[in-house]
Amino acid sequence: MNVAELILKKRHGKELAQAEIEFLIHGYSHGTIPDYQMAAFAMAVCFQGMSLKETVHFTQSMVDSGEVMNWAGKSSVGDKHSTGGIGDKVSIPLAPMLACCGMTIPMISGRGLGTTGGTLDKLDSIPGYRSEMSCDEFQSIVHWNGCGIAGASSNLAPADKKLYALRDVTGTVSSIPLITSSILSKKAAEGIDALVLDVKWGTGAFMKSLSDAKQLAESLVTVGNRIGLKTTAIISDMNQPLGRMIGNAVEINESVDILQGNGPDDILELTLVLGSQLLLDVGLVSSLQDGRNQLQSKIDTGEAYQKFAEMVASHGGDLDAKREIGPSHAVLAAESGYVSRLNAERLGMAIIEMGGGRRKITDSIDYSSGIEFLVKIGDRVEIGQPIANLFCNGQQIELARELVGASIGIGSHRVEQVKLIVETVARSPG
Ligand code: URA
Repeated sequence: MNVAELILKKRHGKELAQAEIEFLIHGYSHGTIPDYQMAAFAMAVCFQGMSLKETVHFTQSMVDSGEVMNWAGKSSVGDKHSTGGIGDKVSIPLAPMLACCGMTIPMISGRGLGTTGGTLDKLDSIPGYRSEMSCDEFQSIVHWNGCGIAGASSNLAPADKKLYALRDVTGTVSSIPLITSSILSKKAAEGIDALVLDVKWGTGAFMKSLSDAKQLAESLVTVGNRIGLKTTAIISDMNQPLGRMIGNAVEINESVDILQGNGPDDILELTLVLGSQLLLDVGLVSSLQDGRNQLQSKIDTGEAYQKFAEMVASHGGDLDAKREIGPSHAVLAAESGYVSRLNAERLGMAIIEMGGGRRKITDSIDYSSGIEFLVKIGDRVEIGQPIANLFCNGQQIELARELVGASIGIGSHRVEQVKLIVETVARSPG
């Protein structure tokens, strides 16, 4: 097969056959197809798209480029994936809650880059926690505890790892079929039976418009089910931060609050919605309400917190060790009125300025910095009232204060509360 001809075929909007896609992915992951040809192919896909069939074959080929975890002897193996947002710490309480309900959760997560935070960075703020390990060690932690959260080892969907890095620097990230195959290939390599996706839309999300988020959710659900993963997506709001805390150590503290029954309502609600969907999809409960009740009971009895402490310990972490939090600086409302806008992306930028996020993957992180947000869209505030607390050691406090101030809009008219859960996208019957 000739790679240049395959690039031209896609450029002209034609459908590639399964063998042609397998040839491309195999050649690229083995180094016989160079970056420049794969970049040209990815750009052609950005303009011409891929059919459902092509996306399914593309995804499966990326799964087949590496190892797939094996959970022989375990049933109800599943995971949750979020397209990323500000203050999104759902994975941290959800994994132990689901493990307490009888699921096996091998959660492969990522680091923060850009304005959205990363679950692994948050967990790394726990003294001793090891988020990088071999596939074998990770599997034995999950076998032992029922859950574990770590980074992807290099042998899980290696073609995606290489292609994603290439897309990142060639302007070819924003293509629904490429995003679909990238997300699903990593999840399918976990060897799971079911996947629930949190597809976010809004200022702090990858997808800025609701219609783009819906399109991505439909694509993920259709392709996920075609490759044998029972997949459901929940579309949720990311026009304001989730919960009150944004940062690393402060988000672990808030996750502990959730597991101990003292978490903010919005993040608890999203955790219950995603968790009950997954329990229903693997058949451990007969209704979403049953799933919610079971998950809530694991918080109420203390089992979920205990499971989290055990998971952290098996990753080498000490949940009781002190997690440093930077000194607190209040941000006050500049006027009275109703909170009309909270630009989640600007808040993510403020975290980066305070050292809590990365500009490039090699940057180190100050786990102790963060923001506590005290208001939500629709709340009434009075001039001079504290609206946020910044936890910051460094010199960047004034810039962070400016970004946080600019992220919040206050108007004179009452504003509707935003809808957190927009809709569920499930496989159509048949
Ligand atoms: N996240 C991924 O894992 N892949 C993409 O292509 C985009 C977001």
